[in-house]
Amino acid sequence: MDRQAGKKRAGEEAAKYVERGMTLGLGTGSTARCFVDALAGKAADGWGLRGVPTSEETRRQAEAIGIEIIIPDETTVIDLAVDGTDEADPQRNLIKGGGAALLREKIVANAARRFIVIADKSKRVAALGAFALPIEIEPFGWALTVRNIRAVLASAGFDGVGVELRAREGEVVKSDGGHLIIDCALGRIDNPANLDRALKAIPGVIETGLFCGMADMIIYADETGVSIDQA
Ligand code: A5P
Repeated sequence: MDRQAGKKRAGEEAAKYVERGMTLGLGTGSTARCFVDALAGKAADGWGLRGVPTSEETRRQAEAIGIEIIIPDETTVIDLAVDGTDEADPQRNLIKGGGAALLREKIVANAARRFIVIADKSKRVAALGAFALPIEIEPFGWALTVRNIRAVLASAGFDGVGVELRAREGEVVKSDGGHLIIDCALGRIDNPANLDRALKAIPGVIETGLFCGMADMIIYADETGVSIDQA
C-alpha cells in the first residue's frame, strides 16, 4: 500500500466538504498536512477561510497558504475540524497523539460542529491498542502521575505493560503546551471509553489520546480509492 498516496487522497476528499467562509479546525501530522495542502487553491481563490490550528507546525503551513489564523473566543464557531489519526476502530473510536498534539486536537475536534477524520487505509483496525496510547501529562510530579497511570492500567487489566516517557534522540518530547507525553503499549483496548474516563480521573493527566464517539466521519483512502465510514 502506498500510504502517502492514501493520505493525499483522503486530504483531497475532505477538502470537498469545505465551503466558502468556513472556520476550520486544522489537525496535525502528515495526513492533516495533505488536507491543508488541498486548501491552497481555495485560499488563493479568496474563499475567506479561517483556521484554528492544533499545532505550531500546522499554523505555519496554514498561514503560508493564506488561511487567516484565529485565536478562538467564546463566540467562535468551528464549522468543520479535519484531522488524521493513528488508529480507528469500527465504532469510529480513535487513538491519536503520535505527533504530541492530542490535547489541542481534542479541544478543537470537540468544539467543531463536524469532525472529519482522514486516514490511509492502514489506520483502520478491528480494535484499538496496537499503537501505543499517548497520554499528555503535567511535568510537575510527572513520575507520581506515571505511578498512578500504571495502577489504573493494572486495574483495567493491563498489568505490567510498557509505559514510557516519550523522548526523541535523547530529548524529552514536549507538546506545544509544554506537557509531557507518556506512551502506553496496551496491545488491545476492549473498552476505550471506560479507559479514557479512568485515566482522566488521575491528577496530573491532562488528556488521553482516546477520542471516543467524536468522529462524525472517517475518510479512508489508498491509491485505488476512497471509502467513507459515517454514522
Ligand atoms: C498528532 O498528535 C496526531 O494525533 C496525528 O493526527 C496522528 O498521529 C496521525 O498522524 P499522521 O497523519 O502523520 O499519521
